[in-house]
Amino acid sequence: MVNKRTVINVISGKGGTGKTLLTAVIAEMLGNEGARVLVVDLDIFVRGLTALLYFHKNESLVVTEKHEIPVSSFFKYKGSLPSHSYPGKKSNSSTTPSAHRKVSISRYRSFDVLPSVAYVNQLLDFRDMMPCSLEEASRIISSLLENIPNHYDFIFLDSRAGYDELIAASHEISDFSICVEEDDDISMITTDNLIEQLRSDNKSKNLFRLKNKVRSDKQTFSPVSNGITFLGSIPFDTDVLNSFGTKGFWADINKSIYYEAVKNVWNTLSKKMSLGIVLQEQRISPLGSGKFEKKLSLLSINKRILFLYGSFISGFCLLYFIFRNETLYVNGFNPDIGILLISLSGLLLSVFSIFLNNRR
Ligand SMILES: Nc1ncnc2c1ncn2[C@@H]1O[C@H](COP(=O)(O)OP(=O)(O)O)[C@@H](O)[C@H]1O
Ligand SMILES: [Mg+2]
Repeated sequence: MVNKRTVINVISGKGGTGKTLLTAVIAEMLGNEGARVLVVDLDIFVRGLTALLYFHKNESLVVTEKHEIPVSSFFKYKGSLPSHSYPGKKSNSSTTPSAHRKVSISRYRSFDVLPSVAYVNQLLDFRDMMPCSLEEASRIISSLLENIPNHYDFIFLDSRAGYDELIAASHEISDFSICVEEDDDISMITTDNLIEQLRSDNKSKNLFRLKNKVRSDKQTFSPVSNGITFLGSIPFDTDVLNSFGTKGFWADINKSIYYEAVKNVWNTLSKKMSLGIVLQEQRISPLGSGKFEKKLSLLSINKRILFLYGSFISGFCLLYFIFRNETLYVNGFNPDIGILLISLSGLLLSVFSIFLNNRR
């Protein structure tokens, strides 16, 4: 099992690449294996992870207990926290700064979450929050980590996109960073820039990258490029996109191809960094073919129906041609031509649904 606490920083060159979802899913997988996992929502303005917690707590706007400290307080007080930093409460100068300090930690399924704010809709003043130097950013992240109980096996930092003092500091303080990118040119360029920047800050720190929302079968990366290891690729999964944040999300996620791909990514990372947990690959495609299922998962529900309907019609007509005994004439008319046309229209329907999807 795990023998020391590992801090993993999840970053990206541009926003929306899937960091929060990936972090939550890996945390849940590890939590289910018995590891003690904490995810810290460092993306204090977007706060995707805190929003998950908000839904988990039956849409309660207040996500922390009184006197507990969310991530944004570390930013506001630049890492030197007053005793009470709960919004609306004045700090009590007669107590020592660390006397009542308790970082806000909530249980979310099989792992813990340190939310970014006390209220999910709390407004933050950007000028108050963002560190103005690398030293200040390092002080904030270090103070945050020092105040976290030390029984965790894994701490994930769900970071914001791009590069700034905060990303430089969280990369420096973590054991390693994982850069999540999408499978397009813009994402690739922003990732290359981010990686170059981080490597010029510190050459020896481990850095990994992975592709998410991949829409093609072709592997568009080499396992190691420029000294950076690719952990693999995760397919675009329409079901995941549609259900993220809904109540049914966790019930079905472990049956998805997304989940299986994330498992593979984790296993590659775990072997590389000797993290002590290797997850079992056990999923069998319900459609009998993982490849076919991956293709189907790219299609939206409407296009899936169109595709399956078209395939069914053309398949049915094909069977008619294979198993018919003799040509029947109905009022002197040969129905074969009609059935052939129906079959062709079914085929066109299926091809059309895929074509519509690829045009996006
Ligand atoms: N592999 C995937 N297939 C489909 N949708 C995905 C995938 N990964 C992430 N998403 C979706 O992308 C959106 C952004 O994900 P999120 O984790 O919030 O990104 P980030 O934290 O990088 O901003 C979410 O709606 C999420 O459901
Ligand atoms: Mg996020």
